[in-house]
Amino acid sequence: MAGSRKLFVRTYGCQMNVYDSERMAGVMAAEGYETTDRPEDADLILLNTCHIREKAAEKVYSELGRLKPLKAANPDLRIGVAGCVAQAEGEEILRRQPAVDFAVGPQAYHKLPALVREGGVETDLAEDKFAAMARAKAAAPRRRAPAAFLTVQEGCDKFCAFCVVPYTRGAEVSRPAARVLEEAKALAAQGVREVTLLGQNVNAYHGEGPDGSDRSLARLIRAVAEIEGLDRIRYTTSHPNDMSDDLIAAHGDVPELMPYLHLPVQSGSDRVLKAMNRRHTAESYLRLIERIRAARPDIAMSGDFIVGFPGETEAEFEETLALVREVRYASAFSFKYSARPGTPAARADDPVPEDVAADRLARLQALLGEQQRAFQESLVGRRCEVLVEKPGREPGQMVGRSPWLSPVFLEAGPERAGEIVEVALIGAAPNSLAGRLAA
Ligand code: SAH
Ligand code: SF4
Ligand code: F3S
Repeated sequence: MAGSRKLFVRTYGCQMNVYDSERMAGVMAAEGYETTDRPEDADLILLNTCHIREKAAEKVYSELGRLKPLKAANPDLRIGVAGCVAQAEGEEILRRQPAVDFAVGPQAYHKLPALVREGGVETDLAEDKFAAMARAKAAAPRRRAPAAFLTVQEGCDKFCAFCVVPYTRGAEVSRPAARVLEEAKALAAQGVREVTLLGQNVNAYHGEGPDGSDRSLARLIRAVAEIEGLDRIRYTTSHPNDMSDDLIAAHGDVPELMPYLHLPVQSGSDRVLKAMNRRHTAESYLRLIERIRAARPDIAMSGDFIVGFPGETEAEFEETLALVREVRYASAFSFKYSARPGTPAARADDPVPEDVAADRLARLQALLGEQQRAFQESLVGRRCEVLVEKPGREPGQMVGRSPWLSPVFLEAGPERAGEIVEVALIGAAPNSLAGRLAA
């Protein structure tokens, strides 16, 4: 479409933001906007932001500083801030950076067209953006990458003492099962083979079923597995307390459900877990993992950790190391505690000194790195199915995903994208595997 307007979106934070960015592009496509990957060509720039740690939030302001000159060059350029920083700091963003025309929180994306025209701040959390955005689906691309995200649940009622998510995303809301299945079918029709069901607390999913009663995530997974063409299912992120028996059972008897589970624990110390308001113990987490592994012995476990939570002692940190040794993670994410405005933990008066937290993070990451390497190496010599996704780093190479989520590089032509192929795993690097197409 010649002369159409151009939209540039930059996404920070979690997969839910990735999903939302695509939906925002859909909303704006209905208004005649095409996406571009060059901010300097754009008539509309959207930053979809993350508020989870201070560093993540501060990135937004430095990026806005870099974008500001574009506005001098093109007075018609509109700049909008979306996502969790917009929700938390809406008015303040417009004050701090006058180049910003509007801020829009995660539940108000259907109001984008009006905000682009009129500017302002929209941070209403009570809206049903999914219903309001349904219209935009027509504008979604016909052909897609073979792996896609699908948000089924948003928000969080857990209120971990350190976390902004319950404030930036609002209360837990599940989409009706029929809506999710409709969208999953549409993805399959566009060539998607693997779908990751998303939610801040995805295993607390309780969407309305066709008979009016609540559907669990396990039942939703079983229904998605029935869809022709969708051969791989994943879900993230889960809370240990919502790992129900039926979900654990699904790991054992739904072949489409991939053997990978991200199950954050945050700490191995019961005193710290209590102060974090996690409502589980290290022991209950370990027993849970035993039950999951009994259902699916080859499951790759992943987790999130916070070190340096207020008051964390050396002995308590060592309990985290002990838990990690017991679990043997295939991959994990670990962070230094960051005090976030408005959260209960931010009021604590016993901070862990920065250098102590940095040292603990380095020790934890060394251990997790060793475990990740050991996991990758344990796969060499095995065969597995790989979903071929896109061209790799070198010519003649493609990269895909193993069932355990590791990227696998193999020699294959671009026409194999979207195929699930049998691969012999022949080498391991810290973050990827090398494979060869099996005869
Ligand atoms: N809903 C998910 C993920 C939340 S955010 C869950 O409940 O697990 C992703 C991760 O960021 C968290 O698991 C936690 O490890 C980390 N995180 C959240 N708030 C943080 C903070 N204030 N400081 C450091 N890390 C934090
Ligand atoms: Fe944040 Fe806890 Fe909710 Fe996860 S469960 S989003 S860490 S409050
Ligand atoms: Fe960040 Fe918001 Fe996701 S704070 S992690 S973008 S829910």
